[in-house]
Amino acid sequence: MASRQSLISMAEDSFPLAKEEMLRRVDDAVAVRRVGAEAAIVETEGATAKDLAELVRRTPLLFTRHVTNVVAEFDPAASDLASVVDTLDAAIRELTSEPLIALQLWVSGKVHYDFNRHDARQRASQLLSDRGYRVSRAGSPVAVSVCFTPKTAVVGVNRVEDSLSSWPGGEIRLSRSPEQVSRAEFKLEELFKTYEFPADLGEDALDYGAAPGGWTRILASRGFRTTAVDPGDLDPRVLRLPDVVHERTTAGNFLRSSRDRFDLIVNDMKMSPTRSSRLMVDSLHLLEPGGFAITTLKTGDRGVLPQIEQSFAVLREGYDIEFARQLRHNRNEVTVVLRKQR
Ligand SMILES: C[S@@+](CC[C@H](N)C(=O)[O-])C[C@H]1O[C@@H](n2cnc3c(N)ncnc32)[C@H](O)[C@@H]1O
Repeated sequence: MASRQSLISMAEDSFPLAKEEMLRRVDDAVAVRRVGAEAAIVETEGATAKDLAELVRRTPLLFTRHVTNVVAEFDPAASDLASVVDTLDAAIRELTSEPLIALQLWVSGKVHYDFNRHDARQRASQLLSDRGYRVSRAGSPVAVSVCFTPKTAVVGVNRVEDSLSSWPGGEIRLSRSPEQVSRAEFKLEELFKTYEFPADLGEDALDYGAAPGGWTRILASRGFRTTAVDPGDLDPRVLRLPDVVHERTTAGNFLRSSRDRFDLIVNDMKMSPTRSSRLMVDSLHLLEPGGFAITTLKTGDRGVLPQIEQSFAVLREGYDIEFARQLRHNRNEVTVVLRKQR
């Protein structure tokens, strides 16, 4: 098989982890070369971006956020997309016969070129339009990516559904709202935009480590009756929401005394990943059969992969791991979606 290159993105601090995961878990990964702060090229003996996306989902690999097939690279100081547009055009036609294309430009690291992002977008749009494509920012089945890094521009093309994220480089942008009570809300909001839960998830949610109440607020806004467990205070605006109950205690105390049943348990407790995972397993009797759980694993920045492996071993005592990823709004942690084994 011919060797292939894919562009992947990850959190800047997580490059070594993304690299280690790729080299350890992807059989035909040969090399991982960093090209920008949050971008690297993975060379494989044949696996395409679609294959990598499938492995990221299934294994799961946690630190890759976005993936696309590398079509070409050029030096933005010396030339532009015109120098590679023939190759790009041929690569697009291999994926689709539709004229509709999403153009995703992103910048990784500090770049100093004599054009700005707007100029680059206009130029690229023009070149693609000249080839007969209708160019959008989003909503098209195939995306052309141009990732500008300090030394190079990497041009990629992939089907959006095989790219792990529909955002350029996986850099989802969420805006603050006046009702927001914590930045932690973004993590749950991003997860709901990234992972598709079944429509019939149920109505009763339990939120461990709820204070000041961001996740509780998001759950309430999605129609859940929510029991918020935390020794700390909830924001008064969250306490006033209908269908929110605050249990001012620890998760350990709650799970020993509660007789309630929930369809969803979420856990954002500040706690070691293995202890937190143990608490999730100890809470299985509170979860309806087939119920879902969401937990963050706060690994810090040392011994990350061993901590995750230990936590997964604990969680698999009673859950299937449906999704696990370091989302854009996770810092030194990963978000995991679990389903109670039947
Ligand atoms: C990162 S904050 C949670 C933020 C919250 N998800 C939000 O969106 O506002 C972590 C919380 O875990 C709580 N916590 C730590 N240990 C706990 C335990 N054993 N039981 C319940 N809550 C705990 C802390 O009191 C703290 O409020």
